[in-house]
Amino acid sequence: MNTYIEKNKDRFLSELFDLLRIPSVSADSKYKQDVLKAADFIKDKLIAAGAAKAEICPTKGHPIVYGEKLIDPKAPTVLVYGHYDVQPPDPLNLWSSPPFEPVIKDGRVYARGSCDDKGQMYMHIKALETILKSSELNCNIKFLIEGEEEIGSDNLDSFVKENKDKLKADVVLISDTSIISEDCPSITVGLRGLCYLEVEVTGPKRDLHSGIYGGAVANPINTLCKMIASLKDENNHITIPGFYDDVKELSAKEREELNKIPFDLSEYQKELDIEDIEGEKGYTTIERTGIRPTLDVNGIWGGYTGEGAKTVLPSKAYAKISMRLVPGQNFEKVTKQFSEHFKAIAPKSVKVEVLPHHGGEPALIPTDFPGYEAASLAIEEVWGKKPLPTRDGGSIPIVSLFEKVLGLKTVLMGFGLDEDAIHSPNESYKVDHYFKGIETITLFYKHFSAISKGK
Ligand code: BES
Ligand code: MN
Ligand code: MN
Repeated sequence: MNTYIEKNKDRFLSELFDLLRIPSVSADSKYKQDVLKAADFIKDKLIAAGAAKAEICPTKGHPIVYGEKLIDPKAPTVLVYGHYDVQPPDPLNLWSSPPFEPVIKDGRVYARGSCDDKGQMYMHIKALETILKSSELNCNIKFLIEGEEEIGSDNLDSFVKENKDKLKADVVLISDTSIISEDCPSITVGLRGLCYLEVEVTGPKRDLHSGIYGGAVANPINTLCKMIASLKDENNHITIPGFYDDVKELSAKEREELNKIPFDLSEYQKELDIEDIEGEKGYTTIERTGIRPTLDVNGIWGGYTGEGAKTVLPSKAYAKISMRLVPGQNFEKVTKQFSEHFKAIAPKSVKVEVLPHHGGEPALIPTDFPGYEAASLAIEEVWGKKPLPTRDGGSIPIVSLFEKVLGLKTVLMGFGLDEDAIHSPNESYKVDHYFKGIETITLFYKHFSAISKGK
């Protein structure tokens, strides 16, 4: 390991712990002050690491932290993106230790945000410090760290559009994804898009006694369940008309390539404690999450859910539904298709409202540009193997915007693992990946400047 990182290990970790102790949950307004506190923390640490400038950029929502270390207008510029907000920690009772009191157990840091994305984002700040203190920086670096990634990056969208000059760069570098495994490092070249909506189904105008009315009046929860169930057929194919129209199909050869990625189905099932998997007929698990769109209920509620039993035929039922999109699909079009279809399938006995939450386009990234090559070399140096390009099922909507608005390609050089359980209780990040990640980032700059010079 790089000797500077080795010498400063304890401090690098304790600083991350300080950041993890701030409950910067962007979705819940009760944490607003903590989100601000996290932004301030990042700003201060950027300056401490050697950034010449770091500022808090207020938005209509949570602030964006911008920082920079510019060394030479002729040197290539890397725009580092990350997020300091985290998902809500619920359900709290399933955590083995409190989500905002980081602890190390079996070589992992357990805390909300340890991997997604505080742990991975903070690696970049420590990489800056490491380069400035122990070697030489050959790139200009700009940092764009937002606080609304987990709620759709709405305000970052306009910030990027309004600050094209400020954000001018040659490539975007992000650590907010995962690798296949330690022995099989990878670089993400595909992300799915997202279309997230909420539906409200109303039956009778008030809650009813389920004995007096049950069986004679539509129960909106039953009806909602039926409607949701009909959104997929017996082959788990989505039934919304036109949904697949724009999906880019892969050639047989491309699918064969994709399926060469090491994948152990029994390990996968064991890790999740499931006896069998389920998904769209005709596709492998790698394809189901990497290149196929899908639809999932994220939450469903209504009626009585408190302690004990209450006999009620509720007036309303709700669900939060998301669709993961793949290249070719557009979230606005899908939002429209979903809304029209969902209203069309509702029986006359209920009323339906559809409320769109947020969306994002999918991303597809090539493997033959300087940024990818630099990441590949850096990873090979630290992890001992040339990384494979992979397609991840998750979404980072801003990636397609960087391409569209700034004309920039993104390098998705993340070091998470599936078992880090991001968004779940007991999220964790391997301590070793934190340090290896910092080292890999320092080497990325070295290779990126060398490759850029040669071109
Ligand atoms: N870092 C994740 C996305 C991710 C994780 C991509 C692992 C690939 C591998 C990001 O923070 C995230 O959770 N994004 C949301 C989308 C957002 C619009 C709420 C997602 O994918 O659900
Ligand atoms: Mn993330
Ligand atoms: Mn996330």
